[in-house]
Amino acid sequence: MADVTILEQIEKIRAFEKGYRASHVINTGFRFGILNALAESVEGLTSSELAVKLMLHEPYLKVWCQTAYHFEILDSDHQGRFRLQPFMEEVLGLDVYTQSPPAKENEWENATPNDPLDRYIKTGRVSQSFKSPEASFATGRAAKSMITVFLSMIFPYCEELKKKLEDGVKLLDIGCGSGNLLIDLAGAFKNSCFVGIDSDEHGIEKADRDITTLGLNDRIHVENLNAEDMSFSEEFDMAALVLTLHEILPEDRPVALAKAHRALKKDGRLMILDYPYPGRLEDFRNPRYEYGIVEQYFEAINGIVHIDQQQQDELLCEAGFKDIRRMAVSEGGMLDFLSVLKS
Ligand SMILES: C[S@@+](CC[C@H](N)C(=O)[O-])C[C@H]1O[C@@H](n2cnc3c(N)ncnc32)[C@H](O)[C@@H]1O
Repeated sequence: MADVTILEQIEKIRAFEKGYRASHVINTGFRFGILNALAESVEGLTSSELAVKLMLHEPYLKVWCQTAYHFEILDSDHQGRFRLQPFMEEVLGLDVYTQSPPAKENEWENATPNDPLDRYIKTGRVSQSFKSPEASFATGRAAKSMITVFLSMIFPYCEELKKKLEDGVKLLDIGCGSGNLLIDLAGAFKNSCFVGIDSDEHGIEKADRDITTLGLNDRIHVENLNAEDMSFSEEFDMAALVLTLHEILPEDRPVALAKAHRALKKDGRLMILDYPYPGRLEDFRNPRYEYGIVEQYFEAINGIVHIDQQQQDELLCEAGFKDIRRMAVSEGGMLDFLSVLKS
């Protein structure tokens, strides 16, 4: 047998992931009658029309349709009406289903009412993100390589940020999770000191334990605190929001950014690393946005709303930031890095 390469194995696992996610979209479409409603409509339906037809929560239907468009299950016209792609009706067995509807026509109406997706799609009531030590550990592991992203994909293009860290700054990491990035930054930049805050108490407990074990208490301090409740004032030279801006709930985001602005000293910089999210439907098939689209699909029930570049810029300007510098990072530009100034 020919030697298997690591790239082939990565591709294999990525294909499994993609298949799982696309199947989830299809199953949800079946479960709540969305695919059926689309199969019945010759002209196609907008997400608002679907919401009225099915009496379901429109913001979720919009995310579902955009994700199904991303996976090329649906197409769309210029009026924003979604239609099944050619042959999908037959391949998914919808033609059989529409001709002989099941005994209980709206079968999904009787589905598990305590299921978070069921509740969200019918009422718009979001579920709190599930916080447990295991969930925090998993998030921490997933983001373990953030220091590599900074050292090899960001700082070589932003020399002045690296220089500041080398010379010695006080940096605030907002949404520090289990503190991995803080610990790695403290290792790389010995003249700097760090404060991390996060709303997840389990993440902060783990960060605190690791900081103590590594003897870094004199340079890193962490607190269980919401970004929107911070009261720091003109204390930090730099701040960071790493994979966190999209997770701060939309109603809290303007306040959280205003508090981040207040926490910085004059000429301080806020660094933001996050998934780019498309502002136009045609970009929902651009691979650069894949992470953002999939994250949005699964995080919608927690009330998380990803924002596009223009919405990010508007929020940052409203919070008082200036000089927005943006670049695409990592292979395929699947993350965006922004650096903004408090002047
Ligand atoms: C995807 S994780 C990223 C964690 C960390 N920055 C990293 O890269 O490993 C997003 C983090 O944002 C935190 N978060 C979400 N909303 C928050 C808020 N309003 N205030 C503070 N932290 C928040 C979550 O608890 C979570 O730890």
